[in-house]
Amino acid sequence: MAVSSDSQHPAGATGSARTAPAEPTGPAHAALADGDPGELQRNAKRHLWLHFTRMGSYAHMPVPVITRGDGCYVYDEHGKRYLDGLSALYCVNVGHGRAEIAEAAARQARELGFYTNWSYAHPPSIALATRIAQLAPASLNRVFFTSGGSEAVESAWKLAKAYHAARGESSRHKLISRVLAYHGSSMGALTATGLTPLRTPFEPLTPGGVHVPNTNSYRWPEDRDHLWAADAIEEAIAFEGAQTVAAVILEPVQNGGGCFVPQDGYFQRVREICDRHGVLLISDEVICSWGRLGDWFGCERYGYEPDLITTAKGITSGYAPLGAVIAADHIAEPFLHGKAIFNHGFTFGGHPVACATALANIEVIEREGLCAHVRANEGPFREMLESLRDLPIVGDVRGAGYFQAIELVKDRDTKETFDEQESEVLLREFLSGELYSRGLICRTDDRGDPIVQLSPPLIAGQQQFEEIESVLRPALRAAGEQMERWSSLSRA
Ligand SMILES: Cc1ncc(COP(=O)(O)O)c(C=O)c1O
Repeated sequence: MAVSSDSQHPAGATGSARTAPAEPTGPAHAALADGDPGELQRNAKRHLWLHFTRMGSYAHMPVPVITRGDGCYVYDEHGKRYLDGLSALYCVNVGHGRAEIAEAAARQARELGFYTNWSYAHPPSIALATRIAQLAPASLNRVFFTSGGSEAVESAWKLAKAYHAARGESSRHKLISRVLAYHGSSMGALTATGLTPLRTPFEPLTPGGVHVPNTNSYRWPEDRDHLWAADAIEEAIAFEGAQTVAAVILEPVQNGGGCFVPQDGYFQRVREICDRHGVLLISDEVICSWGRLGDWFGCERYGYEPDLITTAKGITSGYAPLGAVIAADHIAEPFLHGKAIFNHGFTFGGHPVACATALANIEVIEREGLCAHVRANEGPFREMLESLRDLPIVGDVRGAGYFQAIELVKDRDTKETFDEQESEVLLREFLSGELYSRGLICRTDDRGDPIVQLSPPLIAGQQQFEEIESVLRPALRAAGEQMERWSSLSRA
């Protein structure tokens, strides 16, 4: 199955973002039907709390259990093979089953299983920080490790505030982000997140969140200025009062809503605006770094220099949990003298086993030339997706590198979208299970308008593109037919 969600979940039972609750739209329907559900199923249902998942949906169907991975493929508890078209939630950039990464982790666990980065350092965190500084653009030379993406976003926001305070501007505390963007689920990161159904149940959030339009030009009026969304950031800064704004946080390509790419010159305009108003620019590259867009970092692809980069996921290809904030020299500078301190940290930030894992992962990306591989193959990948435009349900195809989405529409000419109920039927009741049962894991999502999203391991090539098409084409055709039947039934 695919995952429909208000989450980032690949596995199937996720909720719509338009509607608050989450429900499995996943693989579960089709895959595992009869007989004794077995101990794994019983224990999964009895004891495991699935993230962003309508767990009630699994009352009468199996939880999808993935037991093994190899290259671009994973296997479920029954040995059925799936093409992992989502890289296990945008993580497994180098593919599954890399023995050398596992061995690097084991070696480190034997040598020094854990030490913290609170006041101390250890060789893997030093080596990884050094390697990241070599790879990161411009003066992004200082690395603050976390355990994942939300912690990285929390840390970047706190660092932006601390930086301004250290320079005598403690009134600068607000964070500007974009509508529909997902920046994480902890309270600060959730404040940056622009998805109302994820935010509302946890109000009041951290004070200081401000949201601006995203770059979804598929739904803009044709005569709109192409840098309109960038200029909206300046308007927001003016409205809030520049002296209250700490930072703007943006993904190079926005995941939430379905791979919104920036307009030409968008980030250059944003950079100018930030500089004009003394606001920091945070590039949230939790997904868009480590080759996903064909460069080490997404900001390189679009030619801008952020003050801070947040990263996670592909930094270890998911073989261990790790995140990081990469700070430019001028951001670190106020904290390097006298009694100055960034009073913030996490026990496991920069865990030695995770850092050793990341170093081995980066070595694979470099040795196998995976950034160049993505650049060379994104054309054929995109062409395959574009070829699906002959299906009436395909409204838009967009994205960059190995991070692409197809927007599904009711009417291609008018761009009419599916309403909430239709989207529920389309994604959760039909498409997610259909894709999974045909052996493709990808994401179906209606946090914005309904989309199918693909983000395969960076080692994927023509064979995988053909396999993706061989599943997507019949599944999307059947989805279109299903929705026509459903509309005529509901009209009757
Ligand atoms: C852009 C972005 N930022 C932050 C996060 C949060 O990362 P995590 O789930 O590791 O906390 C995500 C997660 O998908 C993300 O896509």
